[in-house]
Amino acid sequence: MKNIPHRMILSEEQMPTQWYNLRADMKSLPDPMLNPGTLKPIRTEELYPIFCEELAKQEMDTATPYIDIPEEILDVYKAYRPSPLNRAYALEKYLDTPAKIYYKFEGGNTSGSHKLNSAVAQVYYAKKQGLTGLTTETGAGQWGTALAEACAYFGIGLDVFMVKASFQQKPYRKSIIQTFGANVVASPSSTTQVGRAILEMDPDTTGSLGCAISEAIEKATTTPNCRYVLGSVLNQVLLHQSIIGLESKKAMELLGEYPDIVIGCAGGGSNLGGLIAPFMRDKLLGRKNPYFIAVEPASCPSLTRGRYAYDFCDTGKVTPLAKMYTLGSGFIPSPNHAGGLRYHGMSPIISKLYHDGYLDEARSAEQTRVFDAAVQFAKLETILPAPESAHAIRCAMDEAVKCKETGEEKTILFGLTGTGYFDMAAYTAYLEHTMTDYIPTDGDLQPGFDSLPKIPGIQD
Ligand SMILES: Cc1ncc(COP(=O)(O)O)c(C=O)c1O
Repeated sequence: MKNIPHRMILSEEQMPTQWYNLRADMKSLPDPMLNPGTLKPIRTEELYPIFCEELAKQEMDTATPYIDIPEEILDVYKAYRPSPLNRAYALEKYLDTPAKIYYKFEGGNTSGSHKLNSAVAQVYYAKKQGLTGLTTETGAGQWGTALAEACAYFGIGLDVFMVKASFQQKPYRKSIIQTFGANVVASPSSTTQVGRAILEMDPDTTGSLGCAISEAIEKATTTPNCRYVLGSVLNQVLLHQSIIGLESKKAMELLGEYPDIVIGCAGGGSNLGGLIAPFMRDKLLGRKNPYFIAVEPASCPSLTRGRYAYDFCDTGKVTPLAKMYTLGSGFIPSPNHAGGLRYHGMSPIISKLYHDGYLDEARSAEQTRVFDAAVQFAKLETILPAPESAHAIRCAMDEAVKCKETGEEKTILFGLTGTGYFDMAAYTAYLEHTMTDYIPTDGDLQPGFDSLPKIPGIQD
């Protein structure tokens, strides 16, 4: 029996100093992003009006495997990283499983989630370019909080468009974003043209990440010296989030462990992409063969029921077109409590890996089953998980139970992306049995698919 601690925390010196760019090792790259005007593959310079230059370069870099993390970013990372890799001894015991369950806990920073890893990087590059303002969208509020925190640190103004459903469910998210000095409005809002147009069509809409992205982009492109930043989906965000996987792999190596199964919840795919990155490298290079599982809500099933197609990343149809698993940018998911997983599309990198069979499985989970797992986990592991993270917990528990049935001693690693202290309305709904499970019918999904763009010669 190895003596494995409950919490394994690397030292500051052991923290990775480079991000890993998965695309450099992919056998076949994601299809190129298209300019929505010309429908031709987009060039790096064409992204400069939306993203800051260094991030546009990272977005398009398919060749450089390792990219140095600037000192200034490492300095902020060191305030809250390396993050712990925990062994879920109590959960294993409760499940009476021979499986070993590990989780990488990213909720230990003030913002409460992994989102800070990319927020710090994006704000640093914006500041370096001399920008004075940023805009963004936020679903669950985790990304808006993380970005507000990073903007406060580097001294840049921020406007956050927060999906209305979350804005109403989580008033304290709004307060914390404001505490860091950022401006926050419920989306769709009347402060942008696109917001007003969406409200005119559906005044009672609870919003979506896609709507909020459209508003944030409009604000950025109509404000001088301002750019838009996105907390997920993009290649640059997966790059920054690779720190999660790199730390996990190093810690597991020091423990003499390697995961048989790696599990992540999937909204836009950034934590999943970051967690699996170095393990996926092993698989791509034929060194190891871990089994990868993405978990999404049954109410917003982009990987499990979506189409692999070119689509807009936003509802207002102003972003570049990306080839990804999507429910259509016109799809407005039901107000599920895992707000951060309510996105119509999926990272093009994750989509491609799934399409090519390297990401082995995508699973969807209904929210009451997700909260069963969340509550059980909280009692045993003393961390109150975010509803998004609890999707991964649900799947890890299910896999551990399977191990009990088969007697296999598998090593399971999952990403615990954040804490759920601002999600108490969701926990209350679960405890009071008012939470419902909504699974869209094929008919419900059809209008979203009908909204997919037609691209002559590529997509009819
Ligand atoms: C705690 C938490 N986990 C996961 C996600 C999903 O995002 P992604 O798929 O980009 O990791 C979010 C998004 O808001 C989140 O807040």
